[in-house]
Amino acid sequence: MFFPIASKLRISMGFLSAVHAFTFSAWSFLARVTKHVIIGPLACLLFCTASTLAQEKVQLSVDASKPGAKIDRNIFGQFAEHLGKGVYEGIWVGADSKIPNTRGIRNDVVSALKAIKVPNIRWPGGCFADEYHWRKAIGLQRQVTLNPNWGGVIEPNTFGTHEFLDFIEQIGADAYISVNVGSGTPQEAAEWLEYLTTSQQTTLAKERAANGHPAPYKIAYLGIGNESWDCGGNMTPEYYLSQLKIYSRFVRNFNPAQQDKEQMLKIAVGPGGGEARWTEWTEHIMKAWQNHQWSWDMNGLSMHNYTVVRWPPAFASVGFDETEYSQILKSTLDMEGLIDKHSAIMDKYDPQKKIALIVDEWGAWYASLPGSHPGFLAQQNSMRDAILAALNLNIFARHADRVRGANIAQMINVLQAMILTDKDKMVLTPTYHVFKMYVPFQDASFLPVTFNAGSYTHGDITLPRVDGIAAKDAAGKPWLEITNVDPNNSVEIEASFNGINAKTARGETLTAPKVDSVNTFDAPNTVTTKPISVKIEGGKVTFKLEPKSVTVISVE
Ligand code: AHR
Repeated sequence: MFFPIASKLRISMGFLSAVHAFTFSAWSFLARVTKHVIIGPLACLLFCTASTLAQEKVQLSVDASKPGAKIDRNIFGQFAEHLGKGVYEGIWVGADSKIPNTRGIRNDVVSALKAIKVPNIRWPGGCFADEYHWRKAIGLQRQVTLNPNWGGVIEPNTFGTHEFLDFIEQIGADAYISVNVGSGTPQEAAEWLEYLTTSQQTTLAKERAANGHPAPYKIAYLGIGNESWDCGGNMTPEYYLSQLKIYSRFVRNFNPAQQDKEQMLKIAVGPGGGEARWTEWTEHIMKAWQNHQWSWDMNGLSMHNYTVVRWPPAFASVGFDETEYSQILKSTLDMEGLIDKHSAIMDKYDPQKKIALIVDEWGAWYASLPGSHPGFLAQQNSMRDAILAALNLNIFARHADRVRGANIAQMINVLQAMILTDKDKMVLTPTYHVFKMYVPFQDASFLPVTFNAGSYTHGDITLPRVDGIAAKDAAGKPWLEITNVDPNNSVEIEASFNGINAKTARGETLTAPKVDSVNTFDAPNTVTTKPISVKIEGGKVTFKLEPKSVTVISVE
């Protein structure tokens, strides 16, 4: 393999500084939660012991009469980079494969992804995107190239533009295409978009038709570069801004169906952490946007934030103890402070919140599985990851007015995946189950919820014991998600719903024997959902959260 170590080191520096320089503690999260949702029992939060709190019933109140911002379904977006077994093997097996497929795309994976209603998929990278040349992956003659970022392996280009768009059509998701700013040209990107979207009989449209798709494609999101401050070309904010203006101007979507409605959203590269260089980056881009001319625009600013604790990623994805469980969860809560920090800068230049913050890479990044290719970023996915996913989704939902998109990294076989595959076998991870449980929250309206989170302590780490969000779906039905972070104690919940005369309620929970329980090809249901008993008496809804669990209930 040619460049795996150099490549990883290059990326690692960005994340190392991101993670180390940005040290919002779990207590800052507690403070925020306290400000917004916890009122009376602060004294208890500070002085009660974890074990006394474990006995207490948590009183929780949802105000269904005050719906807030829409929880954009796009916060449940996915990311599929040409990296390791994410695309090849994970999605693409080829039409001649014995693995059941439709035009080369795995049927088992498609049906699993349909069930979680994936709203959009970001492709082809990541770092890969800034070295991607789309013409090498269309038509009958594919060019065989290399993937220098991810192990220096062969990139056959058999999965290209048409295969990606076929795939997302099969699962019913929107396209989030990242164009090559690092090593490509504005012309190359502009021609790609013309090829994809024009309905007029240009040479490129005819080529698209000859390749099997006469109708123009819809492209919902256009990512203009990826981590341009690092693997995307080590650009200064000034240099990137000049590129952004050019790409924003010339890379056009011509699809007639996307001119007035469903316009393509242009996403600029944003921060990768809370360090000074990234606050400057956000400042620079947002300030320029505030004074922008008619000739360029953007609709979103991306943010990348992995949960990694220390770099290079050293934590195991399976076979860890409660210490690493609590350390990872403490670290993941930094997401809240990071969003607050960059939202505050955005608010200065965009008080009307026209520009969305799109967290288009997030999730846990652990040490590669022993024996796996280090450039393939293969890791297992445990009950801890399910809790981590729920905590992050709740953070995004609480910031629904600004965070209108997010893409977990990455969908299949890479980092915090939904799905793991091995030849013809497929297993759904604990994170997949969380995404499935959250489907009712897609495009639902955020509802204020107040409760005493309490605290869970392990060693020198103290975290909020419970976390949760509530929302009302399009039919007016309220939904409540509650996560019990405490791996040792159950929690009794007594919930009241102001504005709803609760008559029936039901719910399901996701838990597992241990914090590091995983699903494997041999034991695929170790971490899986089950119904829970929910009682209603005098309008109060009561249920019990098992230790280390994610629970969703609905009332009618
Ligand atoms: O998701 C893996 C990599 O992490 C992506 O390619 C890059 O954008 C980030 O550094």
